Amino acid sequence: MNNNALCWIDGSIMPAVEASVSVFDHGLLYGDGVFEGLRFYNRRTFMLQAHLERLQQSADAIGLELPYSLGQLADAIEKLIAAYPQDAGYLRLVATRGPGSLGIDPRSCLRPLVFIIADALRVMNVSDISQGVSLHIAKTRRMPAECLNPEIKSLNYLNNILARIEANRTGADEALMLNLDGFVSEGSVDNIFITSEGVLRTPPLGDGLLAGITREVVIEAAGAAGIACEEVSLRPADLFAADECFLTGTGAELIPVRQIDEHCFSLPHRPLIPAIMRGFQDRIASECRAG
Ligand SMILES: Cc1ncc(COP(=O)(O)O)c(C=O)c1O
Repeated sequence: MNNNALCWIDGSIMPAVEASVSVFDHGLLYGDGVFEGLRFYNRRTFMLQAHLERLQQSADAIGLELPYSLGQLADAIEKLIAAYPQDAGYLRLVATRGPGSLGIDPRSCLRPLVFIIADALRVMNVSDISQGVSLHIAKTRRMPAECLNPEIKSLNYLNNILARIEANRTGADEALMLNLDGFVSEGSVDNIFITSEGVLRTPPLGDGLLAGITREVVIEAAGAAGIACEEVSLRPADLFAADECFLTGTGAELIPVRQIDEHCFSLPHRPLIPAIMRGFQDRIASECRAG
């Protein structure tokens, strides 16, 4: 949170510190709601349509009827970015079930609440991202789709937060979560990739992860650079045997991993990450051109 942060809420834009929600909001009481994190560069939102569509899918999955059309949300984002003092930043688009009674039943909530925050973002508390981040494999397993589908970007992040708390306790920068079968799923707020012998690999959606928009951009960027990509189940041992490992996310963009628990990757040896990173940055530059 910084003093420049702005919030669009029900059609008005105000300093984010002055915006407030009801203590009866089920988003607050039960994590009943959905959200998106987006980035803007040169005052243009990166992958706006994909984020709006995923918000709609998440809302549909929990039976939440958005009170605004996706076009209206895109207009609200445009106005918020125009009012924001910086050219680049982060947006948090949140739709809650809205205020209701203290019971869990969503039928007591008469109107969903939507708000959008524009703020600066510091993803991880790391001084030099290019040196890579460290991961800790959490004991907390990623929730199976039968319990709460990880493809729904809901306000209920306690599963991920518990994993992050474990990582914090070990001093690692981020948690790596496995699914109940012991396969790698994702980080607490990012997707994971490895490269081995010229091939890019990432876990398939069926292994319990959010269908990351950055993940998709990276797969496309790799394809355009002639790098084959496989969506394949991975064990921690596959990660330890890899040449490179990196995380992707709207907040993270593309961050190399230098270490997973005791295992260290050879940092000077980065065969594919630079080309993938270039493709990713080119995509941002072409979609969010200045002017
Ligand atoms: C659990 C989880 N996985 C992956 C991601 C990366 O998704 P995206 O690239 O769409 O930001 C996020 C980011 O929001 C996340 O919270």
